[in-house]
Amino acid sequence: MNWNKWIRQFHRWVAVVFTLTVIITFIALAQEKPVVWVSYVPLFPLALLLLTGLYLFVLPYVSKWRGGRRTADDK
Ligand code: HEM
Repeated sequence: MNWNKWIRQFHRWVAVVFTLTVIITFIALAQEKPVVWVSYVPLFPLALLLLTGLYLFVLPYVSKWRGGRRTADDK
């Protein structure tokens, strides 16, 4: 599989994991005795999303600077 495609799919699936951890955080904090440490868990997938997201963001610009070698992702 193409490296860029792999990063995009990784970003997509980590987005699902991140969303689930946010939902779990809402539940954990709504308890009578809130489980506060759970609210830090989403930060890990969010950090992965930030890194892979920035990569996805610069990708089209980098391929243009490199002389416009077109890929299937170009529009
Ligand atoms: C934290 C900083 C983030 C950055 C910098 C970022 C950046 C990006 C970029 C540049 C793209 C590609 C857009 C395109 O070319 O079409 C993308 C796609 C996407 N992002 Fe993010 N993102 C971030 C966080 C998130 C979060 C928090 C979520 C959802 C919980 C998310 C969900 C998605 C999804 C579902 C896609 C489409 C992936 C696909 O092609 O299937 N991202 N993001």
